[in-house]
Amino acid sequence: MDERFLNTGWNRYEVERAEKLQRQTDEVVFADISANICGIAMKNPVMVASGTFGFGEEYAGFYDISRLGAIVTKGLTLEPRCGNPPPRVYETPAGMLNSIGLENPGVEEFIRREWPRLCRLGIPVIANIDGDTVDDYYRMARRLSELDGLAAVEANISCPNVEKGGMAFGQYPESAYEAVKAVREGTNLPVIAKLSPNVTDIQKIAEAVVDAGADAVSLINTLQGMAIDIHTKKPLFCRTFAGLSGPAVKPVAVRMVWQVYETVKVPIIGMGGITSWRDAVEFILAGASAISVGTANFVDPFAPLKIISGLRQYMTNQGIKTLNEIIGAAH
Ligand SMILES: Cc1cc2nc3c(=O)[nH]c(=O)nc-3n(C[C@H](O)[C@H](O)[C@H](O)COP(=O)(O)O)c2cc1C
Repeated sequence: MDERFLNTGWNRYEVERAEKLQRQTDEVVFADISANICGIAMKNPVMVASGTFGFGEEYAGFYDISRLGAIVTKGLTLEPRCGNPPPRVYETPAGMLNSIGLENPGVEEFIRREWPRLCRLGIPVIANIDGDTVDDYYRMARRLSELDGLAAVEANISCPNVEKGGMAFGQYPESAYEAVKAVREGTNLPVIAKLSPNVTDIQKIAEAVVDAGADAVSLINTLQGMAIDIHTKKPLFCRTFAGLSGPAVKPVAVRMVWQVYETVKVPIIGMGGITSWRDAVEFILAGASAISVGTANFVDPFAPLKIISGLRQYMTNQGIKTLNEIIGAAH
């Protein structure tokens, strides 16, 4: 008899049942959900998407943000930006449109004000950068490389809400190549290229950025959309078009992750409409080595934590020992 049940006073049947249950529990080995993206070691594959988590301060009031796999900062530019005039966000039936216009304090203020706090979190922090010109990308990558402990630079070549740069770089293989090459030349840190879904052939763009030296790719940024104010009879947003995110874009994002996985060998960070661990699993099966939670943070600040525990439970239940067993498994 299992000695744990010796002095319980239970009869033989009760002891047998308890022993059986105990054996099952003893056998459970929780799945290892640690992830590695081009040398960036993460305790889990759940990151937060640029622009939906600020610099983490607001969310730190809800939970210990060092439980995340990694944090991606709001998009940074060389100089501070005040962004677009309101309205900047608009709820849609299955997501939201945004036209923030890259409001951010600029690289220098980020380093002075945000970095001292972020670098103490003990998890990878990735700086998302956006340039008007190729030279902007180079200069920001170089400056950020001076930070002790920054995990990687994510080159946003896909922002749909700015006058210059942004998505314009990410729409053609040649300009995507130039922007990412500039980042590559500016830093020895891992370079992640963030791709736009507003293209005809995502595979060509993915090939171009990998040729330029990207160590990983992240996708998708927002899909271009628009809304019209029926009272003023004018476009709602000052820049007419805005970026659609949230559950509405998920099938598009999964399709693109699938296609990119078939095309390049570098790790993929998948995002676009992820709200649950089931969504996360779908992206991983399509080929993502890690995933980012974006718009869902606005609906439920705890969404990333729920996804972490749901993913671990799913893998444990399925007898999956490590993430590598399921990355791209749907192919
Ligand atoms: C309000 C808002 C601001 C964003 N700002 C940025 C940004 O600064 N840089 C960037 O690369 N992506 C930005 N994004 C795009 C997200 O990082 C993400 O790629 C996109 O929203 C798709 O994921 P989701 O559907 O989970 O939100 C922003 C998205 C939203 C909703």
